[in-house]
Amino acid sequence: MTIHIGAKPGEIADTVLMPGDPMRAKWVAETFLEDARQVNEVRGMLGFTGTWHGHRVSVQGSGMGMASLSIYANELIRDYDATTLIRIGSCGGMQPHVALRDVVLAATASSISTPSSTILREVNYAPCADFGLLRDAAARADAMDVPTHVGGIYSSDTFYDERPDLNAEMVRHGILAVEMEAAELYTVAARHGARALAVLTVSDHLETGEALSSADRERSFSDMIEIALSAAFG
Ligand code: HPA
Repeated sequence: MTIHIGAKPGEIADTVLMPGDPMRAKWVAETFLEDARQVNEVRGMLGFTGTWHGHRVSVQGSGMGMASLSIYANELIRDYDATTLIRIGSCGGMQPHVALRDVVLAATASSISTPSSTILREVNYAPCADFGLLRDAAARADAMDVPTHVGGIYSSDTFYDERPDLNAEMVRHGILAVEMEAAELYTVAARHGARALAVLTVSDHLETGEALSSADRERSFSDMIEIALSAAFG
């Protein structure tokens, strides 16, 4: 057990999917895994372990934002020996060609700062995805015919952003989408020798103001999870 995860040693798989929302962790476990068992409920941040096509896999909520995700990523890797962490979540599209329901595979994740900035100090570190996971996810998305974009995203600290100039610079520099966790996930994974990837679904668009309905969300989130699991075990 760790401070934030109540699972016993051995109860968490090497591969962990990390949605921000703990209720989505439950839905993923119930919908995609066989023999799923709840292994964490500390602070309501639900975690489950089961199998997918015979492969052992866990799903652990990360909470929203890099400060929260950092706690779970550190404990999963350092205390439970997780080796592959894949964030599954939503993002806000930033480019005109990035549409609602599209999948975004984050090759890199830019940020203003992350919890790891206290370690990296003056270094403008470039958090990047594990290449093997990224390649396998892109191949699977292609085979499934899911509209997918591979490139840079922005991991923001503020959902209620009051810096339109900053978003404009992100757009100008080709950033595909915004979310709030991937940069710290990539940095913690790199620091401890684990593999990481963020597989995201566009749930809203910053330019157009469009957003997915909840029925649409569920259907498109299924593609994202299939892509994430295939990449993990590809
Ligand atoms: N901002 C930050 N995170 C998000 C957004 C957004 O617009 N949409 C989905 N996750």
